[in-house]
Amino acid sequence: MSEHELRVAKIRDGTVIDHVTGGQALNVLSILGIDGSAGLSVSVGMNVPSDRLGRKDVVKVENRELSQSEVDVISLIAPEATINIIREFEVVQKNRVDRPETVVGLLSCPNHNCITNGNEPVKTNFTVVDEGVRCTYCGTIIRDALADHIEPTR
Ligand code: CTP
Ligand code: ZN
Repeated sequence: MSEHELRVAKIRDGTVIDHVTGGQALNVLSILGIDGSAGLSVSVGMNVPSDRLGRKDVVKVENRELSQSEVDVISLIAPEATINIIREFEVVQKNRVDRPETVVGLLSCPNHNCITNGNEPVKTNFTVVDEGVRCTYCGTIIRDALADHIEPTR
């Protein structure tokens, strides 16, 4: 990287979601429930040059680790993403994301009559299918804009 290129600063502790599909950084933030009110330090690089992807987005969240459901939904919108855990400035763990078979919790079913939207404490459960994700309870398929279907109450 030449001295003329802008780079997002390294972080001390937290998680770097790297190799995010260009254009998906803000959706990654929605999946993480980060809207600016949490007080976390977050840096975002958009359309950064990448050898592997041409262009990529990068999201760096300090002092926060990700849940498995969060990683699962990220994998659906950014299949090439790597999740890097940073401690004391070092990358202590690096994982590629895997396309999951199911996503438990985190997403909400758009069908208002679905049991998961009733008063029962039923966790949402979606099966990953070619067209998107399918609610295991009512069969409704979310085809796109997964990040717009994040459960409001977390
Ligand atoms: N990173 C960071 N803060 C640190 C260490 C790393 O923000 N203290 C970021 C880097 O900028 C990079 C990602 O975490 O975006 C992974 O770091 P590293 O493994 O050192 O980079 P690469 O070898 O380029 O990763 P890869 O092989 O996955 O492309
Ligand atoms: Zn449903």
